[in-house]
Amino acid sequence: MGIFSNNSADKDIDISKIKLPEHLGIIMDGNGRWAKKRGLPRSLGHSEGAKTFRTITRYCSDIGIKHLTMYAFSTENWNRPIEEVSALMKYFKDYLEEALRDFLDDTVKVKFIGDISAFPKELQELMIENERVSADRTGMVLNLAMNYGGRAELVTAFQKIAERVASGEISPQDISEKMISDNIYTAGQPDPDFIIRPSGEYRTSNFLLWQSAYAEYYIDDVLWPDYTKEHLNKALLEYSKRNRRFGGV
Ligand code: IPE
Ligand code: IPE
Ligand code: MG
Repeated sequence: MGIFSNNSADKDIDISKIKLPEHLGIIMDGNGRWAKKRGLPRSLGHSEGAKTFRTITRYCSDIGIKHLTMYAFSTENWNRPIEEVSALMKYFKDYLEEALRDFLDDTVKVKFIGDISAFPKELQELMIENERVSADRTGMVLNLAMNYGGRAELVTAFQKIAERVASGEISPQDISEKMISDNIYTAGQPDPDFIIRPSGEYRTSNFLLWQSAYAEYYIDDVLWPDYTKEHLNKALLEYSKRNRRFGGV
């Protein structure tokens, strides 16, 4: 693994020597502001953001991240103007088609988290196909959070569990933290250790609510289209120095 230099005064970071999170989450934010600053339509911010997504995803796989969750579209993002939502759907389609062509010999296993039934049929088919062709891969698990909301995810889980209670299969006392973890989209995966949000916003915006109970957060001021491997290296270095206590001492 090479040395990845940080810009400015920071010392070179040898990413192969630091303790990486097992599960990294990224809230890809700031595309709209990036475009606005340049007098461009918001959709152009999203196409630039999609390029950053490609670079950062591949980099995470290269450096050995085992689970990566990228927040691409929230349950609340449907409230945006129709032109913006349509542009996003187009970029999703382009990416999913490209992933099918280019990822065939790759190691990345793709998984969608969120209610994908709300997307146009064509997109749903591309999502299912991407999951299918990558199902046996043993490299990084890439969770794409699409029409994802932490609250909606929990509601769905509680409904599934309630049905089992109602049928008499289990009693209310059988409901445990593990049962809830087993009934959400990330079942079987470790909880995120580290969540990065670019664009300077200090909020979760409904991302991995249950899973992030003990996640370390990192806010970066840079807007997502300007986010680089060097920004990520810097964040990962900070993560490696955090003292996680999990309520202990
Ligand atoms: C993130 O960028 C992309 C999505 C939510 C789909 P934004 O579009 O939220 O960009 P800002 O926050 O308006 O700058
Ligand atoms: C969160 O960003 C959702 C994604 C990045 C996909 P938003 O831009 O939608 O969040 P708010 O509205 O600023 O909280
Ligand atoms: Mg935003």
